[in-house]
Amino acid sequence: MSFADDVRLLPQRTMRSLLISLSHRRSLARLAVRSPLTRPVVARFVAGESLAEALPAIAALKRAGLHTTVDVLGESVTSPEHAAAAVDRYLATVAALSERGLDPNVSLKLTQMGLAIDRDLCRTNVLRVVEAVRGVGGFIRFDMEDHTTTDATLDVWRSAHEAYPQVGVVIQSALRRSSADVDAIIAAGGRVRLCKGAYDEPGSVAYRTRAAVDANYTRLMERLLLADAYPALATHDPKLIARAIEIVERNGIGRDRFEFQMLYGVRRDLQRTLLDRGYTVRIYVPYGQEWYPYFMRRLAERPANVGFMLRAVIKEETRRMRGK
Ligand code: FDA
Repeated sequence: MSFADDVRLLPQRTMRSLLISLSHRRSLARLAVRSPLTRPVVARFVAGESLAEALPAIAALKRAGLHTTVDVLGESVTSPEHAAAAVDRYLATVAALSERGLDPNVSLKLTQMGLAIDRDLCRTNVLRVVEAVRGVGGFIRFDMEDHTTTDATLDVWRSAHEAYPQVGVVIQSALRRSSADVDAIIAAGGRVRLCKGAYDEPGSVAYRTRAAVDANYTRLMERLLLADAYPALATHDPKLIARAIEIVERNGIGRDRFEFQMLYGVRRDLQRTLLDRGYTVRIYVPYGQEWYPYFMRRLAERPANVGFMLRAVIKEETRRMRGK
């Protein structure tokens, strides 16, 4: 058995916690980003390192009938200058999408806008991006990061949503608090993207079993659909997707009253099937140089990805050494 297989056989939760803890390691990020070995594997999940590389991928999705939301990669920014640079990248992205007739729909993380430095600085930065999105009649969604940022994210979301209604936010079914958050967002007329949650959260705030996370997802999804709150059901889980279809069919909810969302490079077969059945499917398309933490969370979601990546890296390294 190879090293790649050994790693893949670690218990799933141990592997997930390990990968998520590695996702915070800046030294590893620097190493991975510079290494040509990781590139081909990363390319499956990330549409490019630059806007110029990402735009053809976004246009190809549009031609295939899929909608998109674009994420300019970056998070956990610690200097106002870096946060300002991230704002500029978003402004350029929104302008480019609109000029090319692509969906002016973006997703962003508040820690990229300076949330960890100062909440008001973050709010000011975010409102600049919101203004740009409003200028082209687009939509913007605030991703949700780990539970220590939930209150602040919802607070900034409220200000942004008051300024422009086409601002949505993400709720994670893994968190115990999410039921109350969903009710509050519905009451405020906001739009929710519902996902399971990509972070390794403690049992004090989160459900720790897959069954409990999925049961909460089903409850929240049903509430959002029945409230006619145009939810974005972000999952690749065929069981949850089947459950969503059952709920909408039983309640006569139109296909224009919600959408499915999936990640770039994940379950392309399922994206196609839903599209062929007449559902709206939006793909979350990340691009940028700061792909490391995003990529590590994708590995954490599916242990088989780790074996796949290690085998690709070992193969590439062997080829390189033989070539020397
Ligand atoms: P689950 O993990 O059970 O996977 C179901 C099946 O999907 C797997 O069996 C596998 O076939 C496939 N699959 C899932 N992930 C895969 C991967 N990485 N590689 C290959 N196959 C995979 N989270 C968060 O905390 N904050 C956020 O803002 C967002 N935003 C977001 C947007 C969109 C559009 C999506 C689809 C997801 C997110 N997420 C997120 C991530 C989300 O919380 C969750 O971690 C992943 O979607 C994986 O969970 P699933 O619901 O797909 O189920």
